[in-house]
Amino acid sequence: MTTIQVTASRTYDVVIGRNLLVDAGSRIASLLFGRRAVILSDSNVFPIYGATVKQSLEQSGFSIFPAGESQKNPQTLLSLMNEVGQYGLTRSDVVIALGGGVTGDMGGLLSALYLRGIACVQIPTSLLAMVDSSVGGKTAVNLPTGKNQMGTFTQPHLVLCDLDCLATLPTAVYAEGMAEIIKYGMIKSASLLQQLQTGDIDKEIENIVSQCISIKRDVVACDERDTGERQLLNFGHTLGHAVESCGNYQMFHGEGVAIGMWMITRGAVAKGLCTPECLSILGVLLDKFNLPKTCEFTPEALLAGAQSDKKRDGSAITLVLPSIVGSCVLCKTDFDELESLLRLGVAP
Ligand code: GLY
Repeated sequence: MTTIQVTASRTYDVVIGRNLLVDAGSRIASLLFGRRAVILSDSNVFPIYGATVKQSLEQSGFSIFPAGESQKNPQTLLSLMNEVGQYGLTRSDVVIALGGGVTGDMGGLLSALYLRGIACVQIPTSLLAMVDSSVGGKTAVNLPTGKNQMGTFTQPHLVLCDLDCLATLPTAVYAEGMAEIIKYGMIKSASLLQQLQTGDIDKEIENIVSQCISIKRDVVACDERDTGERQLLNFGHTLGHAVESCGNYQMFHGEGVAIGMWMITRGAVAKGLCTPECLSILGVLLDKFNLPKTCEFTPEALLAGAQSDKKRDGSAITLVLPSIVGSCVLCKTDFDELESLLRLGVAP
């Protein structure tokens, strides 16, 4: 078991290990003595893990919503908030978000807003949620105009990553988590990229997840509100979100990120901003984990999607560009330059 302490506007532990769900209750109780809990989960995850978590808590209710990114909207959030209100949760109680990224984002936002803020424990059950969305305090739902446009920065009180949950993940959901892990290697760690190429991923998964969370801890500690260094975590995301939006969010987020990383790295190599080795390692890893590199959307459609990116500032946008293996840089650029990178990124 590994424990990583995150220090931001709140200091909390991220625990990574096996068999953590069965004693989730005691871990939460030792932190939040005497509180009642509502477990927020989705229709895929609750039937598998809900009973275990509920049994480990003395007093808990649960609130379940249909699984899927399409549920990550203000209407579903409001109806969950009403349920929590009817359950009588007070400011001294806790919301437990049990599930993947959608559940974590909604549980985080619900706990940030309900009664102006109650405690939240994140129990991510997908690889992607473990390495990325459950840590760092970004909470949000989508608006018709774009992804994650309604949200807050609110840190959780505890994150429990039970690696046993990975056993029930569909292959494509596991793979999309690998896309975010590759991202961490590309932005900060050549040795992680090496480990992903040659290591035994299943045996080394605790170490790999812990490395990603450690990178995120360091980035969040110096830039909680995403005004600088934290934007590195968006490598592949500007174009990835554009791909997701062009596809009406029917593909997995990690698949969009995989395509976004590939396109921007290809463009950066073509412009001489990045070593070709970055592209070849990225290609090997995306292929190894069966992640996509291309999509059917036109550069025009992708550019329109990228223009709603949150990193936009007037007519400029902050791009994350790979430079050498294990390192990326932030680059404020205009949309003409983005278009040029994109066209090079999708060129035959
Ligand atoms: N998922 C990117 C971040 O937490 O900043």
